Amino acid sequence: MEKKQDTKEDDEFSESLLQTLEQQTNWDGSPMVKYQGFWYLKIFFRQELASYKHFKAKDSDVILSTLPKAGTTWLKALAFSIVNRGTIYRDIDQNPLLTCNPHKLVPFLVAFKENKPNQLDKPNDPRIFATHVPFKALAYSIRESACKIIYVCRNPLDLFVSARLFLTENKLEKDHAGLLGLDESFDMACEGTHPYGPFWDHMTGYWNAHLENPRKVLFLKYEDMKEDIVFNVKKIADFLGCPFSSEEEERGMVEEISKMCSFQSLKNVDKNGYSIKGLFKNSTFFRKGEVGDWSNYLTPAMAERMKKLMEIKFQGSPGLTFKI
Ligand code: A3P
Repeated sequence: MEKKQDTKEDDEFSESLLQTLEQQTNWDGSPMVKYQGFWYLKIFFRQELASYKHFKAKDSDVILSTLPKAGTTWLKALAFSIVNRGTIYRDIDQNPLLTCNPHKLVPFLVAFKENKPNQLDKPNDPRIFATHVPFKALAYSIRESACKIIYVCRNPLDLFVSARLFLTENKLEKDHAGLLGLDESFDMACEGTHPYGPFWDHMTGYWNAHLENPRKVLFLKYEDMKEDIVFNVKKIADFLGCPFSSEEEERGMVEEISKMCSFQSLKNVDKNGYSIKGLFKNSTFFRKGEVGDWSNYLTPAMAERMKKLMEIKFQGSPGLTFKI
């Protein structure tokens, strides 16, 4: 009864809130709303609010945070493998990553239903969840408990190209008239008008949280992970308090996990299936997986504009630099 009441109140609250918010459409025509300085896709907004209000983090939880297209799927596979390596690597043929897309193994917090607070409870700790929301929009219990947060950041040029191409493959709006042109989409990205944007506020929010408490927030960069995944797999394990033993290292466990979670291995798994409420085709989460692919789509003038924007937006964040 109380739960129903909660849900009703949440619905009324989000409905009246939605009326007051600035609205825009994304590059593919999907409605977005601006809340506390960040853009959200309207279809997920109620659930994002509900998870902010009701999600109760446990100290043992692991929260994976990214902007869309920054390497969420990869991070899900890595965190899942590292945390569960004691069981899933006992029998290599039984590893769920051989048959399941990582989105099936690690849910988004937005899947949290306001009327079923225990829906995401699993018997085994640690639980792993993913989110795209900015740091300040994480549930209070996530920020204040001892749970760990891993953020993956990706250079904004590749992020833009990856996001735009993803939308050409997955249409959230059935009736939309087609994607905005490249120039208009790029203008919007440079204005910070894209899901969970502005990207610079998203990145600096987690960067500052990492600087304030590096044991709570690990800040990784997609480009560094591409350069040396073995080093980063160890870094994640150390951060989560489950470092690889020398025996595991000698057995090649770190390399095995890196390989199992590589683009080449994951891209063929259940590639005709769909993930995230059936909205997205699994294969579309694996396009090229490279650093610098933006140069095949954007003009030098566009790149220059973005570089200048980054200089301005990240000037107060020394250390927050990108290999592009
Ligand atoms: P590209 O479109 O540049 O190829 P997300 O998982 O956040 O949606 O991000 C998707 C991007 O990460 C895509 O980038 C995709 O190819 C890349 N990606 C997915 N799995 C990867 C992996 N195992 N290693 C490296 N990149 C990966």
